[in-house]
Amino acid sequence: MKSRSFLLLLIISLFVFMLSGCGADNQTSVTPTPEPSTPPTPTPTPEPSPETSDSGSNKPKGPVYEPIGSSLAEAYADYFLIGTIYTPNTLVDPERSLVIEQFNCITPENIMKPESMQPSEGYFAFTLPDAMLKFAEENNIKVIGHTLVWHQQSGRFLGQTSDREKAIEQLRNHITNVVGNYKGRIMAWDVVNEAVKDGAPLPADGDWTKCLRETQWLRSIGPDYIEMAFRFAHEADPDAKLYYNDYNMNDEVKAKVVHAMVKDLRAKGVPIHGIGMQGHYDTNVSIESVEKSIKMFSELGVEVSITELDISVNDASVSKSLTEEQEVRQAIVYAKLFKLFKQYKDNIVRVTFWGTIDSKSWRRDKFPCLFRNDYTPKEAYYAILDPEKYLAEHGVAEE
Ligand code: XIL
Repeated sequence: MKSRSFLLLLIISLFVFMLSGCGADNQTSVTPTPEPSTPPTPTPTPEPSPETSDSGSNKPKGPVYEPIGSSLAEAYADYFLIGTIYTPNTLVDPERSLVIEQFNCITPENIMKPESMQPSEGYFAFTLPDAMLKFAEENNIKVIGHTLVWHQQSGRFLGQTSDREKAIEQLRNHITNVVGNYKGRIMAWDVVNEAVKDGAPLPADGDWTKCLRETQWLRSIGPDYIEMAFRFAHEADPDAKLYYNDYNMNDEVKAKVVHAMVKDLRAKGVPIHGIGMQGHYDTNVSIESVEKSIKMFSELGVEVSITELDISVNDASVSKSLTEEQEVRQAIVYAKLFKLFKQYKDNIVRVTFWGTIDSKSWRRDKFPCLFRNDYTPKEAYYAILDPEKYLAEHGVAEE
């Protein structure tokens, strides 16, 4: 059997050998291809990039960020850090170039929220934040951790128990794992977010615990969850600045509660180093109210940061783009705020915008950002770059 198949193989090989020109070259093809006399000059084919359209033309498919030649981070280098949000989309252009040119710190919009960090109990998802940290470290950008304890985007198990000890263990475990994993790499954490109720005045006896929002953590642990969160975070990274972060902080009623809470906690030795005023304003915001709160919080001896700034155009209509009048009106509010922030540079560590282009903002219907959807800077950008000049040019210098 073996010798028969060997014979068959020999005959086939002989046949192929004869056809291929008696072994003159190593080709096994039956139709020999003549060698070209001169080697062909290779014509370089451009690598298709994500920006190139399918038709093969080099015309960019989507918007491109054209360098402006100025940088907000540089303009404020002597005052405070200038930040924006990070999403995984920040890793690719045009967002990437914009962020690198304009900002020197980032806050993850969603990827570090409790439900993202610990999607199922005991399982921590570090992949997306790891990529953010790598991007930030390669580009000399600082990172803010947002957020550890919140009533939203916190999954179905964290704090969702009537067993107090179990809830404390969950709190400790979440904070220790998340903060500990990035020890030394995150400059500040929003440890507790939005824990104070709206419209609940501080009682005459100063008991701020009566003004806390009904959350899963308040129900399961009681008001102490706040101080525990700060202590766990501090143990996990003693060098990180730890913040209490909230919205409507220019509302006097809420500001007084936060003031009392932070004062009380600090007197008890709780490691709380900063107050974050989110800054989701609209074009009717009272600059005076913002100043009052910055002043009040600064007097506590803590850092103050504007952590999520965006200014909605109150009369914008979602179906139309902004009119020139609306853009300028929004820009003037931004300019007034930045003029104020500059005056408090000794207390303000950072001003972070909650978004870059309007269409990606969580309040996109009100056009609150500094960049248009095609990545060109709006009036607001120039207003912030030099607020005094912008206000003077628009006849509001004396305000
Ligand atoms: C927002 C994000 O921008 C949205 O993408 C998400 O759907 C909801 O949360 N206060 C905060 C931020 O502390 O985390 C919120 O961010 C906006 C309000």
